[in-house]
Amino acid sequence: MEFSQFPRHIGIIMDGNGRWAKKRGLPRTAGHKVGADVFKKIVRYCSSIGIQYLTIYAFSTENWKRPREEVGMLIKLFEQYLQEALRDFLNENIKVFFMGDTSAFPEELQKLIRDTEEASKNHTGMVLNIALNYGGRAELTRAARLLSEEVKSGKLTPEQITEETFAQKLYTAGQPDPDLIIRPSGENRISNFLLWQSAYSEYVIMDILWPDFKPKDLDRAIKEYANRNRRFGGV
Ligand code: IPE
Ligand code: IPE
Ligand code: MG
Repeated sequence: MEFSQFPRHIGIIMDGNGRWAKKRGLPRTAGHKVGADVFKKIVRYCSSIGIQYLTIYAFSTENWKRPREEVGMLIKLFEQYLQEALRDFLNENIKVFFMGDTSAFPEELQKLIRDTEEASKNHTGMVLNIALNYGGRAELTRAARLLSEEVKSGKLTPEQITEETFAQKLYTAGQPDPDLIIRPSGENRISNFLLWQSAYSEYVIMDILWPDFKPKDLDRAIKEYANRNRRFGGV
């Protein structure tokens, strides 16, 4: 496929697993299982078509409000996924980063997170950011805290706090902002995802539940993106 503009960085708010399961009379966790398989497929697909950065929102700082069994199941799925990733998927030259306060998770998952980052750190292919216990507000608060510590220790003056130095304290430091953010499930909201980085991202909201999401749906979103006129405040 030839496009007039092609996204360098795509963000995806994986959403609709619960509704997908409910429609089939299944427990919500069944939707998460299928959703995890779709996640794997879409990551591979993005890498195969030349996306350079992919950020996937997998668990928000607000998702702890869900029933304990659901949260427990999600944590199990993350563990399973990372075990598999360490086994096969890391051969694919994908570089994995985690965004969010992962210290809130059980030690086993934290270890898998560290091992995955370590095992893929020299990879030169697509960068995959997995947002786990991530919230845009928490990320901004953390950046403010890191900067104020540097001011307090005299490493930085208040005048040196600029958009550039601020952005360096975000999880995405050094990465381009997302060009395209896709939200399946039809929900028209940002749900605390990449608040700073999405200032000029193009949103594509799709009426499809994440477990039904196929590579051709990603193509559709990219096609729509290609037809957008990005002005960044200019003319
Ligand atoms: C997305 O699907 C998965 C996570 C947020 C972890 P949901 O579980 O939010 O599914 P819906 O929105 O309830 O259908
Ligand atoms: C956003 O989905 C968070 C993730 C996809 C991880 P939610 O399902 O939590 O968002 P809301 O509650 O519909 O806004
Ligand atoms: Mg949801």
